[in-house]
Amino acid sequence: MAAQYSGVIDLEKKIDEARQGEVLDAFDKNTDKKFYIESYGCSMNFSDSEVIASILNKEGFGGTKNFLDADLLLINTCSIRDNAEQRVRARLQQLKKVKETNSNALIGVMGCMAERLKKKLLEEEKIVDLVVGPDAYRELPQLVKTAEDGQKSVNVLLSREETYADISPIRLGGNGITAFISIMRGCDNMCSFCVVPFTRGRERSRDALSIVKEAEDLFNDGYREVTLLGQNVDSYHWEDKESDESINFADLLALVAQVNPKLRVRFSTSHPKDITEQVLDTMIQYDNICKSIHLPVQSGNSRILEKMNRGYTREWYMEKVDLIRKKIPECSLTADVITGFCSETEEEHQDTLSIMEYVKYDFAYMFKYSERPGTHAAKNFEDDVPEDVKSRRLDEIIALQHKQAKAINEHELGKVYEVLVEKASKRSEDELTGRSSQNKLIIFPKGNAKPGDYVNVKITDSTHATLKGEITG
Ligand code: SAH
Ligand code: SF4
Ligand code: F3S
Repeated sequence: MAAQYSGVIDLEKKIDEARQGEVLDAFDKNTDKKFYIESYGCSMNFSDSEVIASILNKEGFGGTKNFLDADLLLINTCSIRDNAEQRVRARLQQLKKVKETNSNALIGVMGCMAERLKKKLLEEEKIVDLVVGPDAYRELPQLVKTAEDGQKSVNVLLSREETYADISPIRLGGNGITAFISIMRGCDNMCSFCVVPFTRGRERSRDALSIVKEAEDLFNDGYREVTLLGQNVDSYHWEDKESDESINFADLLALVAQVNPKLRVRFSTSHPKDITEQVLDTMIQYDNICKSIHLPVQSGNSRILEKMNRGYTREWYMEKVDLIRKKIPECSLTADVITGFCSETEEEHQDTLSIMEYVKYDFAYMFKYSERPGTHAAKNFEDDVPEDVKSRRLDEIIALQHKQAKAINEHELGKVYEVLVEKASKRSEDELTGRSSQNKLIIFPKGNAKPGDYVNVKITDSTHATLKGEITG
């Protein structure tokens, strides 16, 4: 997760790009009413926004990228840290401008903040008309009708079954080459710092056949990479009622990899306590399963890990890393790290630095601990590491990470990678960007290549974040 992605979608552009009659028909129905949606938080929220777009589209809503033109403004929110919520509150203040020109416009808060704050959100943010939790999106058309009739509406019921398996997401604001597929929802892990089990509910896995079908459809529409999403993909588990077959995450990976050798498969997030050798062996077996694992460590100290309820120790984590390195030497490793968790001492912080030195992550998302109301940590531990100490520790891990990533990337000079071309680079139309199997972003002069092509690129330059190269042969 973790990136603070912020996306604004462009459904109108999608109409031009859409090759599927189905999508065009859906838009033709009615464009009198338009919705606008912004997503914050993890990839799962982005994926959910595509389900929301599909549900609204069936109800005759078209999309707009200009919120001032919208009749329904939705903001799909994240609660993972306090600053994620503050950003949403600030954004709501900007969005309310829409009501000056269109007094009938409705503003809805979706996602994790809706689930966490429930109807309190209506009291705290007067401009909000709808509050809809992550398992209630099917009810959105009804909730909008209620709100149109002048009544504020709230649905934050969590479900044990909902996976939206039968809803074909409308791909939003993407590049037409890479897409997310949600394979499960919720989380049962109860890491003590984490709000997700409260905002997303119990873990449940989606029908494997619907996942494979979605991957096939994407491939037929020109997509060349799918990322299978779950908070803990390794606990994916689905029983095929007809064949009585049970499918675990490694089985699912293999099924999706078999859709087409030209379809790359990525996945996120792996949990260090649950990732299996069978998953690693499946990654080896299929060239199109990308050699990249996001394996959040959170802390390098066993006492802190226990307090976080992560279910592994420093040594266990290091052994997992050793196993991955042994089996898949070319695999990149990335992580999430939290500094300043309750009672973390200076030596324990040093353990985080030293595990980062041991693993040498290709990339890391790094955060200061932010106490979340209702979590085990908030109820039972004191948030006692002073803010300036948290900040200094964060600066130290960021500096180490950048130094190490720069050194790793310098080593890439002269190597050749197969790159899936995604889009024109932000800086120049003459350059393209794409990724290696290891998920490294590479920029190169376009030559004759176009998005969706696989090209071999030789690395000629690097920084801690990106690689530059040129197409070879
Ligand atoms: N399911 C994934 C991560 C989901 S949340 C996993 O288990 O690894 C993404 C990241 O946000 C977490 O890995 C963690 O590093 C960070 N995070 C979660 N709660 C946090 C909190 N209260 N304060 C700071 N960072 C937090
Ligand atoms: Fe949160 Fe832990 Fe679940 Fe990840 S595994 S979503 S950190 S509770
Ligand atoms: Fe994702 Fe943020 Fe919710 S990380 S699951 S959107 S709290």
